[in-house]
Amino acid sequence: MRYTRLGRRGPRISVIGVGLWQAGSRLWAGRRRETLEEVRRGVRLALEHGINFFDTAEIYGAGLSERILGEALRDAGGDAIVATKVAGYKWTWFDVKRAVKKSIERLGRTPDLVQHHWPPPVYAPLCRLARSLERLIDEGLTSHIGLSNYPTPLLEKMLECMHRHEPVSNQVQYSLAYRSPENRLKPYMDRRGMTLIAWSPLAKGALADLREPKTLAQRLDPVFNAAARDERLQETLARIAEKHRASKAEVALAWLIAKGAVPIPGFRRASRIESYARAAELQLSEDDVRALDEASREYLTRWGVEYRSLQFYRWIPGIFQRLALILGA
Ligand SMILES: NC(=O)c1ccc[n+]([C@@H]2O[C@H](COP(=O)([O-])OP(=O)(O)OC[C@H]3O[C@@H](n4cnc5c(N)ncnc54)[C@H](OP(=O)(O)O)[C@@H]3O)[C@@H](O)[C@H]2O)c1
Repeated sequence: MRYTRLGRRGPRISVIGVGLWQAGSRLWAGRRRETLEEVRRGVRLALEHGINFFDTAEIYGAGLSERILGEALRDAGGDAIVATKVAGYKWTWFDVKRAVKKSIERLGRTPDLVQHHWPPPVYAPLCRLARSLERLIDEGLTSHIGLSNYPTPLLEKMLECMHRHEPVSNQVQYSLAYRSPENRLKPYMDRRGMTLIAWSPLAKGALADLREPKTLAQRLDPVFNAAARDERLQETLARIAEKHRASKAEVALAWLIAKGAVPIPGFRRASRIESYARAAELQLSEDDVRALDEASREYLTRWGVEYRSLQFYRWIPGIFQRLALILGA
């Protein structure tokens, strides 16, 4: 396994991590006992392959994902870097602290990284949220703080508000089928020494050759649907995969690693982990990267030049966000 650093001074993490949204999520039909067993096995397998970075969130499966991850890591007994997230509508110190304390209870340990899951509602004062996040480190509730789904202008404002602790990362949607972060966000983050953690790195399976959605999460995702039907992109992936005796998923993940991002593919089958670990060893040539860049060029702007995922949450008052998340967890 190859390793990199989280932010400028954060811990050493594998160049690829694993996402735990699927564990316990109804949208992924991920609450079945067999699926949760597979997830436990997958976490163990990931550690065996040297993958040490795991991403979860308080909202995944209404806390079930954090619980399963915590149990699996305790059973496996390996060293892991755990990232979780506080829901974006929480911004006061009272709410943020309470959320992280509950995450700690479920994980059975202090997370290494707490990310603010999406930007707060428009009425929330950003600098107050920044102070709440910084205080998490001061009070020993996490070692590092990060953001998620922050577009460039909001990220700039947050960084202006933060004086005592730097956020090490911003977790955003990034894949061959969603390249908006490359226009402004990624160059800005590179200058600030922040790690880009890439969510939906496989476009929910479409870049792994899944052409028809199997779950609600996939059916509702326009990026999944675009990538599943994009013959030019699929053919390029297939050609490069064949050349390297690899799978399409491995090529799509290796492309992200080559771009300097840390992908965190999700899974419900433990066998996926083998392929994710292989992706970390796959070295694409400059020609491969150029061909993939070319075949996916339209996705640099198709979903917006500036990063736009989940930005609609900013216009929904916190109380309604909370209700929607309780119903949809
Ligand atoms: N910060 C945020 O707002 C945010 C948003 C979304 C996700 N995330 C994080 O990012 C992680 C990953 O993103 P994601 O879950 O949206 O999607 P993803 O990683 O792009 O795709 C994961 C799915 O791809 C499928 N897959 C992998 N290899 C496959 C193959 N060979 N054939 C068919 N299907 C295959 C898996 O299917 P199976 O389930 O069948 O194994 C898995 O569920 C999440 O778990 C979560 O931690 C964060």
